[in-house]
Amino acid sequence: MFNAEQLGLLCELDVIDRIFDHIDNGTTDLGETQWHEPVSSYYEQARFERELALLRQRPVVFCPSSALPDAGSYVARNAAGTPLLVARGQDGKVRAFINACRHRGMQVAAGQGCSRAFSCPYHGWTYNLDGTLKGVPGKAAFPDLDMAADGLVEVSAVEKGGLVYVMQQGEITDAMLDCAPDFFSRDQILFHQSATEDNANWKLLTETLLEGYHIKSLHRDSFYPFGLDNINVVETFGENSRIVYPFKRIEKLRAIKREQRRIAGSATLVYHLFPNVSVAVLSKHTSVTIIEPISPTQTRMESYCVKHPDTVNESITIEDAMRDVAFVNQSGQEEDREAARAIQETVTTQANSHLTFGYFEKAIVTFHQNLHRQLATSDRE
Ligand code: FES
Ligand SMILES: [Fe+2]
Repeated sequence: MFNAEQLGLLCELDVIDRIFDHIDNGTTDLGETQWHEPVSSYYEQARFERELALLRQRPVVFCPSSALPDAGSYVARNAAGTPLLVARGQDGKVRAFINACRHRGMQVAAGQGCSRAFSCPYHGWTYNLDGTLKGVPGKAAFPDLDMAADGLVEVSAVEKGGLVYVMQQGEITDAMLDCAPDFFSRDQILFHQSATEDNANWKLLTETLLEGYHIKSLHRDSFYPFGLDNINVVETFGENSRIVYPFKRIEKLRAIKREQRRIAGSATLVYHLFPNVSVAVLSKHTSVTIIEPISPTQTRMESYCVKHPDTVNESITIEDAMRDVAFVNQSGQEEDREAARAIQETVTTQANSHLTFGYFEKAIVTFHQNLHRQLATSDRE
């Protein structure tokens, strides 16, 4: 489990012990406080704008490094309401720019791909992969133009542990990524990508990922036949959390000598990278999901699936990994998204003044506590 212990997280043997304890005692990890989140947090424009401001002020995962495999690879999409263009240069370095032409603001790239330069579709100004302005058709018509100063506007981008982090205001420092796990090695392959859009606030979708109290009830025919209900190991590291969701087949590990037990294949490990990213380590692959707020009531989720490396004992094919993806996406995740959309319709009614999170929903309480603290700090700045 990469640098889990350096982050203060349990090693896999201890996680397995704790799950067995919970199974034997009919218990699960518990939080110490309840949380009441006002329903207005899920629809108010003012709150939404404070959240977007916060997302622009801190490093947020933009995509896995494997989405930018080569020099010239790029991904363009909106992040916290800003069109961004993130590209790997000829020097191998990943850079992020505001995706706005310096002529009249057109977006110079769309979607993703691989290119030697970016040519603005409007009038053809071109930019190098490092953002510098390369060419202007009919340059004589712009006597004031300073080619050296009119490159794409760059924002801070850093690669760590196989993820690309972007921060739109200020520079990312090493200290900011102290709690960033090293998820991927350099050679891991991105084999599948998908995106969904839902009429639900981004926090409702995030909350679905952070507790196992709903496995039996919401996922009766999808996850529950394989997964244990409300038996979880929940830990925090920095502002982030890790939630371990054991499968029923973890019982088989009891027959194996403790030192030889491996959790892979017996549990899903969900890392919530505060505030809006989840990294789920499944049996054959790891999925990185960016929960991108579009409006107070609309969210786009970008999912990237990266294959686990082959091990001495196991070689994992893309087909194996795709079976993992189909299992998660087509069953459980649909149910979670449907729940989030359904809740969105009730938060504007008189039914609840707030949503309630109890001891089983510890990682969600942590999420809201951190969000409240960070919003208060960012309001003061
Ligand atoms: S807006 Fe880009 S070339 Fe005119
Ligand atoms: Fe769920």
